[in-house]
Amino acid sequence: MKTVAITGVLGYSGRYVAAEAVRRGWRVIGLTNSAGRLSNPACYELRPMPWSASGEDILRGVDVLVNTYWVRFSFNGAGHAAFSHREAVENTLALFRAAQQAGVRRVVHVSITKPDASSPLPYFRGKAHLEQALFDLGLPHSILRPAVLFGDTPQESILINNMAWSLRHLPCAGTFGSGADYFLQPVHVRDLAELAMEEAERPEPHRVVHATGPETYSFRDLWRMLAQTMGVRRLILPMPHWVGYAAASVLGALMHDVMLTRDEVRGLTQNRLAVDEEPAGKRSLRQWVEQHAQQLGCSYQSELSRRR
Ligand SMILES: NC(=O)c1ccc[n+]([C@@H]2O[C@H](COP(=O)([O-])OP(=O)(O)OC[C@H]3O[C@@H](n4cnc5c(N)ncnc54)[C@H](OP(=O)(O)O)[C@@H]3O)[C@@H](O)[C@H]2O)c1
Repeated sequence: MKTVAITGVLGYSGRYVAAEAVRRGWRVIGLTNSAGRLSNPACYELRPMPWSASGEDILRGVDVLVNTYWVRFSFNGAGHAAFSHREAVENTLALFRAAQQAGVRRVVHVSITKPDASSPLPYFRGKAHLEQALFDLGLPHSILRPAVLFGDTPQESILINNMAWSLRHLPCAGTFGSGADYFLQPVHVRDLAELAMEEAERPEPHRVVHATGPETYSFRDLWRMLAQTMGVRRLILPMPHWVGYAAASVLGALMHDVMLTRDEVRGLTQNRLAVDEEPAGKRSLRQWVEQHAQQLGCSYQSELSRRR
């Protein structure tokens, strides 16, 4: 039986990748920093993330490594351990090196749409750096580049759910600028998981997969589609970027969360969450919203509370 090690196996996409791996007959080893903090209902064998000197031992006997580890933004505030993109890049580089030393046959690495080594945005720059590092190591690998994820439940689909929450609870919604000239291609996490395990089984030395969803929405049209499908009538107002960001910051603070960072607004409005290439994802966001219209946005989902 082939063995796959999956980082973030108790997290969001990692859980789906693990379930897909089991379905395909793989033995799963979960790599996590959160054993004891997050539940492990599927009872995966857990090992610590291999950032340390013992990384090579942790990965010994593993055929394929699937990496979902990353941090959404850098944070150094009260009530949580600090985390940063810089640390995530260093940790991931250590992970790749450990995989190489342990003789892992292939790495499937989850990246982002439009990684960019020259971007001032640490998320997109860090992702580009890691893609290049993986290539330079010479380890056979596949890179998956998803846009925004949505999952089986509204609770885990933070961005879409919190847009829906805003529609339910606020008198109007806003776009950064017109909202008509930048786009998103949300992809179901099951599509991502299936692609990850298809890639785990491939022989090619180097592949890039555009793990985007089949539907493309401008930010304005995403609001409209959500409101329409949920049966909520709201004005969608164009706003200067700083006003939209200030509103999201106030809402985030009220919810003891970070709803959207300034860099995320920049990434979104620079049209980094959609690509021209053929999408590899199949599942429709619109149909998903129709199925979940009753529960979507009923409660706010906090990113920070997941890291407590
Ligand atoms: N979610 C999206 O909408 C989206 C969109 C585009 C691309 N992606 C990419 O898809 C990949 C997986 O995303 P995901 O949403 O499934 O990730 P996730 O579950 O939130 O995070 C994956 C793992 O990274 C670790 N992690 C996350 N935040 C951390 C923090 N603040 N401090 C320390 N460790 C942290 C956790 O490991 P432990 O559980 O071991 O602590 C977690 O299980 C990432 O590479 C991301 O860039 C995601």
